[in-house]
Amino acid sequence: MQRTALLLAIVLFMALAAGFGSVTAAPVNYQLPDEVAAFKPGPNLEVVQGNCGACHSADYISTQPPMKNRREFWQAEVTKMIKVYGAPIDDADIGKIVDYLAATY
Ligand code: HEC
Repeated sequence: MQRTALLLAIVLFMALAAGFGSVTAAPVNYQLPDEVAAFKPGPNLEVVQGNCGACHSADYISTQPPMKNRREFWQAEVTKMIKVYGAPIDDADIGKIVDYLAATY
């Protein structure tokens, strides 16, 4: 009698475990939303996409408030990305990036 109860418990446990197993093994699909922020078209766009899109989206650039001196502002911003946040940007690209940003934003 006791043996039967134990057997029944084991069978029940295995059935349950198999049931849970099939639930947790089900594949999970994620549908990521499309990227909504994009850099505006302009000369040197590809330099900016390559150098500024690695850590954050274009939102960070397009949501800056109006500024008095665009060139100075973007020069300082690019320098800050390199010095403070360690952005790996070639010296040769800094001018191109500042040109693009000052002309476009
Ligand atoms: C190494 C990673 C990295 C790269 C590459 C990078 N940034 Fe950033 N950026 C950051 C971080 C970190 C912040 C601050 C995020 C925060 O405060 O939430 C930031 C913030 C900003 C901001 C918001 C204002 C501010 O000063 O915090 C602007 C504008 C910006 N980045 C522009 C740029 C531009 C332009 C480039 C390309 C020249 C660039 N970033 C490349 C890391 C990076």
